[in-house]
Amino acid sequence: MVSTMMSVIGLLVFMTVCSRLDAASIKDRCPLPSNLKNNYDYDWKSKSHEWQNTKAMPTFLQLVLSWTQTFCESLPQYAQNTEFQCRNRKHFGLVVHGLWPQASKANSVRAHPRNCRNEKQLNATLVKRYYCMMPDEDLIQSQWEKHGTCYFKTATEYYQTIENLYGSLNIPDIASMKNVTAANIKSTFLTLNPTLFASAIQVSMDYENRLKEIKICYDLKQKFVRCSL
Ligand SMILES: *[C@@H]1O[C@H](CO)[C@@H](O)[C@H](O)[C@H]1NC(C)=O
Ligand SMILES: *[C@@H]1O[C@H](CO)[C@@H](O)[C@H](O)[C@H]1NC(C)=O
Repeated sequence: MVSTMMSVIGLLVFMTVCSRLDAASIKDRCPLPSNLKNNYDYDWKSKSHEWQNTKAMPTFLQLVLSWTQTFCESLPQYAQNTEFQCRNRKHFGLVVHGLWPQASKANSVRAHPRNCRNEKQLNATLVKRYYCMMPDEDLIQSQWEKHGTCYFKTATEYYQTIENLYGSLNIPDIASMKNVTAANIKSTFLTLNPTLFASAIQVSMDYENRLKEIKICYDLKQKFVRCSL
């Protein structure tokens, strides 16, 4: 009896500290902009700081998550007032920045696969389908072309893979954490996701010690794997 009570209490605690994001809830848990921008196509050749690497072979996938609060606070005020994600920031916590096919032998950022194919602008149906997980059409377009094309055949395959990986993580309720440090976030992730292990997750804070990004690494069969050699 007592042990049943304890497990019920344990379950309730577990359910309040984490939110398992099933696919249906990810898709529907945010407001959508009434109109998308007209042109959100991406062309790495028009960017002075971009390059192409079609030679590197991807050996693992890195899921990069971004903390909305810090992202928005780091933007100039006018952008905070205009970016949909920031105007609606209470709906967006830990969103997806991208899924990066990486080469484990790479010894510099340029040695990873990048900008493998030019692709057409994705349609509004696809963008809106994944908007709650990645709340910006430019981001959805550019991550597909910059990273997705280096391993995935279609944008649908790329975005469905991201949603499956993101949706199968138990995400801590970071906004309610009392002591937000990289070590505490990491250990909470490890507790909530029993098959995850320390070398497969990296938590980075910004120069003001605010949570910036969380990277989680998967092998090509989508099992957790260490992020670096
Ligand atoms: C939008 O793009 C997706 C993926 O390329 C495609 O499967 C779908 O049919 C398109 N939908 C419309 C309405 O054009
Ligand atoms: C916050 O957590 C860190 C471990 O990440 C610990 O060293 C520190 O003492 C904690 N601070 C408070 C105020 O609880």
